[in-house]
Amino acid sequence: MIPVIAIDGPSASGKGSVAERVALQLGFHYLDSGALYRLTALAAHQAGVSLDQPSALQGVARALTVHFKAGKTWLAGHDVSTLMRSETCARDASVVAALPAVRAELLTRQRAFRQPPGLVADGRDMGSVVFADACLKVFLTARPEIRAQRRYNQLIEKGMPANIDNLLQDILARDARDALRSASPLVQGDAVVLDTSDQTIEQAVQQILTWYRDCPPAPGT
Ligand code: CDP
Repeated sequence: MIPVIAIDGPSASGKGSVAERVALQLGFHYLDSGALYRLTALAAHQAGVSLDQPSALQGVARALTVHFKAGKTWLAGHDVSTLMRSETCARDASVVAALPAVRAELLTRQRAFRQPPGLVADGRDMGSVVFADACLKVFLTARPEIRAQRRYNQLIEKGMPANIDNLLQDILARDARDALRSASPLVQGDAVVLDTSDQTIEQAVQQILTWYRDCPPAPGT
């Protein structure tokens, strides 16, 4: 069994930064599952497919040509690393992600990231659906105001426009959409909660590594 650490949580909780560092420390692969929803939304926009056409969106998800290489993301041969981080793309991603057909389409693609020696996966349903047998499940969260501030800093750092009040509203709207949808909603489930409101990224990383070391070995390993 290839071990998986599942890190789920609401928007801008810092899952990505923490998950990537945990993966690096363990020498594991890393899956940013949100990127696949963002890329589906972006590809749909580029193809002129509107967000109220589930079967066309499923086709877009099926046809995605994506490469993750050296910290950059390529969609159909174009570097979209910055474009896919816009708030418009995040908003569209959470609309697309509510569609069961799109989620089903992306399932195999996500599971293919499970390669030796292990995987750290972040998203909304890593522990509840995609890797339900993960050896460690973390629900990573922070207070909404802190998350808005983190997203603000991230966007400004990338030279992208940002307004903290709008970000807070967007984040709350996305949280509600992600938690209230019927298809794979964001749930705490059997994950251990890590509130990083008053923690640095490094402290969160160390906490997860400690939990992982204490994990009982999976049966058969
Ligand atoms: O950066 P942020 O946390 O706001 O978003 P993200 O992780 O890049 O994900 C973008 C959107 O994709 C989220 O708002 C979710 O609606 C959706 N998503 C999902 O439904 N399931 C996942 N496993 C990951 C993301």
